[in-house]
Amino acid sequence: MHPMIKKVLVSEEQIVQRCKELGKQIDEEYKDNECPILLVALLKGSVPFMAELMKRITIDVQIDFMDVSSYDGTESIGDIKINKDLDGSCKGIDIILVEDIVDTGRTIHTVKEMLLNKKANSVKIIALLDKPSRRVVDISADYVGFEIENEFVVGFGLDYDQNYRNLPYVGVLKEECYK
Ligand code: IMP
Repeated sequence: MHPMIKKVLVSEEQIVQRCKELGKQIDEEYKDNECPILLVALLKGSVPFMAELMKRITIDVQIDFMDVSSYDGTESIGDIKINKDLDGSCKGIDIILVEDIVDTGRTIHTVKEMLLNKKANSVKIIALLDKPSRRVVDISADYVGFEIENEFVVGFGLDYDQNYRNLPYVGVLKEECYK
């Protein structure tokens, strides 16, 4: 375990197993689609989850990435800025938005509205982690890996000041890291 991690909340094995289950669920729900669905991951935190999940989906998918900024340190901040938009049009496409964690819900709510305004056929949300107790916007993910308590977590894509994204598990940092 990394020396700055106090405890592991979700292990790599649990994440892999859950991605297999979520992949099956997505296969089942979209199996009659005539066109590939589009998985849209939000950079950077969703990259490991996207990579693990997409391998477990067997129906045809395409992938794209968006980069939006809404977060600074450990507190969510105001409006969302689009740093990188989709490469192509999403008109008429069924999208699954891939997010590392739903916290206040502002990010996925805003991005979902944007994609629907651009005439995506449907937008569902999949999140590796969900912190329902922190929600300020009335939105929920359609697929959730793990529900967690109101604790700041790092690893499997999640960062604290850009560090710890590479940890293969989700864990809680020791208090001394915040000093
Ligand atoms: P929301 O818009 O408040 O739902 O924030 C979502 C974003 O905040 C996530 O994509 C993460 O980048 C970040 N975030 C929320 N909670 C945590 C956490 O516990 N650890 C690391 N990043 C977090």
